[in-house]
Amino acid sequence: MSVVGTHLAVSDIGFSYRRGGEELFGGLSHEFATASVTAVTGPSGRGKSTLLYVLGLMLTPRRGTVMIDGRPVSLMSDASRSGIRANGIGFVFQDAVLDPARTVLDCVTEPGVYNGRGRGATRHHARQLLADLDVGLRADHRPGEISGGQAQRVAIARALVNDPSIVLADEPTGNLDHGNATTVLATLSAAAKAGRTVVIATHDPFVLESVDHVLAL
Ligand SMILES: Nc1ncnc2c1ncn2[C@@H]1O[C@H](COP(=O)(O)OP(=O)(O)OP(=O)(O)O)[C@@H](O)[C@H]1O
Ligand SMILES: [Mg+2]
Repeated sequence: MSVVGTHLAVSDIGFSYRRGGEELFGGLSHEFATASVTAVTGPSGRGKSTLLYVLGLMLTPRRGTVMIDGRPVSLMSDASRSGIRANGIGFVFQDAVLDPARTVLDCVTEPGVYNGRGRGATRHHARQLLADLDVGLRADHRPGEISGGQAQRVAIARALVNDPSIVLADEPTGNLDHGNATTVLATLSAAAKAGRTVVIATHDPFVLESVDHVLAL
């Protein structure tokens, strides 16, 4: 999957966690602009995180399709979806989940094990991303030895290490002060300007002011 111009869209999607339960999205169709940052906003419980899981191919919509480059990826086999997820999609969870047994640098490098770039080059790239996010000095710490806001920035470095063409970030500025939120947004904007499709779930007014597009649920 090429980084430049990857096209992400949803067509008429609906999702419910339980069969016959409340349906989220109500037949949403949307094309996410390439080379830009789209914020998904809306009240708590409206389905922002769930939409990112659907876009990230972790949940399958009950109706409608997720399309990447015109292919109905949500209808593909588990194995195909896992491959697309591993190589083409970077995901930042709402609560950064980092393996407590590894160093920060190893946490960031881990998704790159199978990307064919090589261990040394991946580690170099990981250190660069950590430095860009102002947590370079924490590379050799364990996740238990860093703050919540630092862990969130480490999770963003981890999501970018494979140069995914699609980046999905769930409340990436949720634990951050204004200065660090600016750093995170600058990193995600730079990722978008390089041709990626970036989608952020947020209700942070500062983020909503800074992004290219807003999709209100
Ligand atoms: N694993 C689950 N099983 C059943 N229902 C769930 C599950 N996860 C979320 N929900 C429900 O689905 C709805 C959407 O949840 P979601 O987490 O996507 O909302 P959100 O917009 O991200 O909210 P927030 O702003 O609080 O993060 C909510 O009503 C929630 O209770
Ligand atoms: Mg959420």
